Amino acid sequence: MTDSLSPETRLARGPGHDAATGAVVPPIHPSTTFMRDSSYELVGDHIYARYGNPNVDAVEELATTLDGGADAAVFASGLAGVAALFETVDSGRHIAAPRVMYHGAQDWLRRISDRRSIGLTLFDDVSVDSIRDALRPGETDLVWVECPVNPTWDIVDIEAVAAVVHQIGGRLAVDATCAPPVTMRALDLGADYVFHSATKYFNGHTDLLAGIVVTARGDARWDDVRLVRKLTGGVLGAFEAWLLMRGMRTLHLRYERASSNALAIARHLEGNPALEAVLYPGLESHPHHDLARRQMTNGFGGMMSLLVAGGEEAARRVVARVRLFSPATSLGGVESLIEHRFVVEGPHSVVPRNLLRVSVGIEDVADLVADLDQALAG
Ligand SMILES: Cc1ncc(COP(=O)(O)O)c(C=O)c1O
Repeated sequence: MTDSLSPETRLARGPGHDAATGAVVPPIHPSTTFMRDSSYELVGDHIYARYGNPNVDAVEELATTLDGGADAAVFASGLAGVAALFETVDSGRHIAAPRVMYHGAQDWLRRISDRRSIGLTLFDDVSVDSIRDALRPGETDLVWVECPVNPTWDIVDIEAVAAVVHQIGGRLAVDATCAPPVTMRALDLGADYVFHSATKYFNGHTDLLAGIVVTARGDARWDDVRLVRKLTGGVLGAFEAWLLMRGMRTLHLRYERASSNALAIARHLEGNPALEAVLYPGLESHPHHDLARRQMTNGFGGMMSLLVAGGEEAARRVVARVRLFSPATSLGGVESLIEHRFVVEGPHSVVPRNLLRVSVGIEDVADLVADLDQALAG
């Protein structure tokens, strides 16, 4: 019967009750080591917590099901997951990735490219043609894209990109941090790996770091990703995995609410003379709106960017005036955040200086609109 359950039901139920005690909420297993019996066989499935533990397993099982993958691996942060996947690229091979992407992941890419003789091509836009031009047949091993793209919220045509990447024997990894599987399933669209910084929507309460990589196939490459996690100690701790599971149980509700709040705010702000543009894939005016509708079947998420008229100073004055939005980086939590993205990314950032990145939370939308209105009017 459980095979037919909807994602919403699976999320709400989480890992189910604890069979040993009948506890409705699963226990935390903080033990770092696991016993053997008198014949020196392991009593359960675990050996040592760096290899995984029951709380990590529960998150992996649920994440695998939600994304429709073959397996998932949970990491101590999003970047630990990104690093493990890139670590499986051999020297002499090639990676293609966007010029505009999460800056920390790009910093890591540049580092391994420099130190391990891995070719790196950064493509300027996320159109299929641009990505095709960045490929080196026979050499390109991994193509990394974000969807939606942070912080322009452009949308990648995952199905079309997967086709061109597979044509030259490469693999496609999609950073779907801002479009979790309650709205977009990148593996169904042809990606080989989907990545989530679970620090964001999966957990949703801004109180832990975690990363999840889900694979379409269990194969030697995937075994290597797991081996890297084991050897580098990149696994999530038991308490954080338990907290993450608690957060995940409301993912669908939080994402739905953040999406409807964000859409209402984007529509309200579009045309405000204090803004040059509102970037949000849910707006009909967004250049990739039709594609977003096709790929994001249950909401466009809570992320948007505001290009403030009057440049960097004007943008920073808006952040200084908000009273309800918290001026802080990160995204995907229940509370709304606003940030001047250029300052956060640093001097190498290619983000426009007048861009404010907004993570819309689950508060009353009227309160959020009133706060942005007064900050923009001031
Ligand atoms: C799109 C995206 N990918 C990856 C990461 C890295 O995740 P973490 O901060 O959990 O290491 C972030 C963090 O902000 C992100 O926004």
